Amino acid sequence: MEIVEVEDATQDDLDAIYEVDRRAFEFPMSKASIERDLRDERLSKYFVARALGVVVGYIGLWCIYPEAHIISVAVDPDFQGRGIGKKLMETSLKWLKDAGFKHVFLEVRVDNTIAINLYKQFGFENVTVRKNYYQDGSDAFVMVCDLGKASNIDGEQKNE
Ligand SMILES: CC(C)(COP(=O)(O)OP(=O)(O)OC[C@H]1O[C@@H](n2cnc3c(N)ncnc32)[C@H](O)[C@@H]1OP(=O)(O)O)[C@@H](O)C(=O)NCCC(=O)NCCS
Repeated sequence: MEIVEVEDATQDDLDAIYEVDRRAFEFPMSKASIERDLRDERLSKYFVARALGVVVGYIGLWCIYPEAHIISVAVDPDFQGRGIGKKLMETSLKWLKDAGFKHVFLEVRVDNTIAINLYKQFGFENVTVRKNYYQDGSDAFVMVCDLGKASNIDGEQKNE
């Protein structure tokens, strides 16, 4: 496949991140909330995956030391299933670990098997269920990763 680079996102990536989010989710984030996150470098950190310079995926984090939260991760539907989600997770978990963060939390729809499989590969475990968490009434698993024990983040970066 084409070479995909994962890089720090900048405010110039706002429209592209929003477009990926809109294409990947039934209920996307608002552009205003992504814009706010990209501006707030103290609290938030976003990475983008680029294929030939075009943004095809992103991951957004909130970082409140010593804990971090994955706000969202998404890959453009035309590029899913090619290892890009894994690369975004690997890069962000390594970045958080190197920065000294201890735990990473996230919420995921209980029926989102693909995402749950992805998170489990990195050592995320279910901690609880949040009832009616999503706009359509679906429940969410809350998952946590202990970065001291996380899997798959200390290897060499692979080009796929
Ligand atoms: C979830 C998402 C980010 C994964 O990104 P991706 O690039 O498609 O995933 P990858 O190709 O990197 O695959 C990573 C892992 O996900 C799981 N996975 C991927 N496709 C899968 C499928 N069709 N069925 C089951 N598991 C699957 C596997 O564990 C896979 O690892 P493996 O290849 O070693 O088996 C992407 O599918 C997406 O954007 N989905 C819509 C938005 C979303 O649900 N985001 C998560 C919100 S919590």
